[in-house]
Amino acid sequence: MENFDLIILGGGPAGYNAALRASQGGLKTVLIEKRALGGVCLNEGCIPSKALLYSAKIYDYTKHGDKYGVAVTGSSIDQKAVVARKNKVVKTLVSGIGAQEKHAGVTVVMADGKILGKDGEGFKVEADGKTYCGVNLLLCTGSMPVMPPIPGLRELYETGYVMTNREVLDLQEIPKKLVVIGGGVIGLEMASYYNSVGSEVTIIEMLDHIAGPTDADISKILLNNYKAKGIKFNLGCKVTAVLPEGVQFETPDGKSEIAPADKVLCSIGRRAVTQGYGLETLNPVMERGAVVTDEYLKTSVPGLYAAGDINGKIMLAHTAYREGEVAVNNILGKKDRMRYNAIPSVIYTNPEVGCVGETEASAKAKGYDIEVKKLSMAYSGRYLAENEGGDGICKVIIDKKYNRVIGVHLIANYAAELIYGGAMMIETEMTVDNLKEIVFPHPTVCEIIREALFE
Ligand code: NAI
Repeated sequence: MENFDLIILGGGPAGYNAALRASQGGLKTVLIEKRALGGVCLNEGCIPSKALLYSAKIYDYTKHGDKYGVAVTGSSIDQKAVVARKNKVVKTLVSGIGAQEKHAGVTVVMADGKILGKDGEGFKVEADGKTYCGVNLLLCTGSMPVMPPIPGLRELYETGYVMTNREVLDLQEIPKKLVVIGGGVIGLEMASYYNSVGSEVTIIEMLDHIAGPTDADISKILLNNYKAKGIKFNLGCKVTAVLPEGVQFETPDGKSEIAPADKVLCSIGRRAVTQGYGLETLNPVMERGAVVTDEYLKTSVPGLYAAGDINGKIMLAHTAYREGEVAVNNILGKKDRMRYNAIPSVIYTNPEVGCVGETEASAKAKGYDIEVKKLSMAYSGRYLAENEGGDGICKVIIDKKYNRVIGVHLIANYAAELIYGGAMMIETEMTVDNLKEIVFPHPTVCEIIREALFE
């Protein structure tokens, strides 16, 4: 048996980052991962989807270059080459993380870890035939796709007809007809990709809008952009069965319809992974299938922490990354806590969406007295130069009581890159007057945020 200060179960963004920070902070750390370092984000989520979407963007430019005076003829997409390039990007990043862990002195064990329990010595975890003992245990086991008991869904997943985020990123052929169940982040990003490369895409969403909690104005503009690109939407619809020829659903007026499909993507959310690795031996308090944590990422069991999707708070890689750090800082005795009010969310569709903080609706629901500043992206010279016919907006939500920005919402090119600025405004509790004194570079897309404040 080998003793450690910290055992980390799961090598996704929460786990691999926590391992680095822990080792850098002087903790003897072991990181146990059963599949591949980088977790869902690097291997079958954030990164591979961005590689695919970038290929689609280049292809889109070749098809629509005439709007900018550039005519390209004969461009085509080679799906196998796109996927091969995606795999190369993933491989580079995964091996980079391995090298970083090694450099930091983390012991990495590539095996299925099983918690045996906790005794006077600490937490006992078994992996690859060895027992590891840790003073602290950090759970970073992530999440998995939700697969509800819709007739035919699981059976047709087994045949490869239904896909999750994992399989959809590796398709070697472009499906003629793709039906996406769920108009959330994964559904929209993948609909965007397959629409660009030539599939007929239909989205079936049970809510009356897409992109879940995204600000309503942004969600509507995104919907209109997608309709204009030819994506079909069935909103407010309930999926009743998945059949070998397509997806059966009920429309809001009670009619039963079938959306024909060559492939189906099921993207209706994710749930925390809490089973199959001995967590029951520690019996932490759980809620709605996730491990309950406080702002220090502590669970109800002393010495047991949980960061990332497993705590079900905000299932985003960058949240996980920071949560891993906060957990380690608390183990190290440093003052640090998680604040969830300034976590950006991005959708890498074309156009991109970048949001942070309160939406108009959530601010009103929480009782803030707000002022809403809304400005067309056409006020940005760079946006106008680069987005022929674009209809993006910038929306800033201000808390009138303290004259502070509490929400920033953008639909525009580079939105994902520049939304961190909004996060800084909220996190540092900047007043609108402070912000107006800051010089933004010109001409840029980001200067729209400052401009909006003068509306
Ligand atoms: P999601 O929670 O974003 O969206 C799921 C959608 O499916 C919702 O709109 C929901 O109303 C709908 N839905 C649920 N049950 C349904 C049913 N039976 N029929 C039709 N619609 C149904 O979940 P998604 O897209 O699967 O993504 C999973 C997680 O991954 C999310 O937490 C997301 O934030 C994260 N993610 C983040 C990305 C990013 O930051 N760019 C990219 C991809 C995923």
